[in-house]
Amino acid sequence: MTKRTPVIAGNWKMHNTLAESAALIEALKTAGNKNNAEVIVAPSFTSLAKVAELAKGSHIQVSCQDVHWEDKGAFTSAVSPVQAKDAGATLTILGHSERRSVFGDTDEILNKKVAAALRHGLTIIFCVGETLQEREANETIAVINAQLENGLKGYTAEELKGLIIAYEPVWAIGTGKTATPDQAQEVHAAIRQFLADKYGQEYADATRILYGGSVKDSNVDEIMAQPDVDGALVGGQALLADKFARIINFN
Ligand code: PGA
Repeated sequence: MTKRTPVIAGNWKMHNTLAESAALIEALKTAGNKNNAEVIVAPSFTSLAKVAELAKGSHIQVSCQDVHWEDKGAFTSAVSPVQAKDAGATLTILGHSERRSVFGDTDEILNKKVAAALRHGLTIIFCVGETLQEREANETIAVINAQLENGLKGYTAEELKGLIIAYEPVWAIGTGKTATPDQAQEVHAAIRQFLADKYGQEYADATRILYGGSVKDSNVDEIMAQPDVDGALVGGQALLADKFARIINFN
């Protein structure tokens, strides 16, 4: 069990109409929060303002799923950090594996997005993770260290204060295959070591590292029991109010 304040975040991805988003946030507002976790939902941009409005005054924080690196301009279909904040987001996910693999977000692009989020005071949930091929080649830690090194390049511990990291093995996202608690703990400990080496022990001890990849009501307790797992980033089950409520209220 973590000694840090746990974070339970739901990534709604490209799901939910306005009405579905409204119903989900309303249900989560009354779902309890027995661990006093930081509860976060990340709706799609079309639902962001609505969800932020409905979450106002509750314990739930609203994140976006990505932002562009510029504040405004000729970037058809993109959303800037200024617009995301204006719509009510206080955090942003960056570097989700779907952004990396489907939309081509490289470490260099992510480094610019990190700059944009920091510039506007959006708390970053920075995702890292290895593919199955990389895991089988024993490259997991090297891959993740490089994602952290390059994505966060140029910033001090002070500037990155409050950053949340999400370890999401690509082979576990949306596949129903979850990393075992031991596998998660091993990588989380390695990430914390990276943070200690790079930014100091105090920063490493304070930073929350979430696990993501097929987190379910049925496996959240054993994952959250690991000392270096400080929370969960949840996809599929974050769309189901009763399942996500159980995840928030993990044992
Ligand atoms: P999943 O997604 O829970 O559906 O595996 C996790 C994520 O992509 O953040």
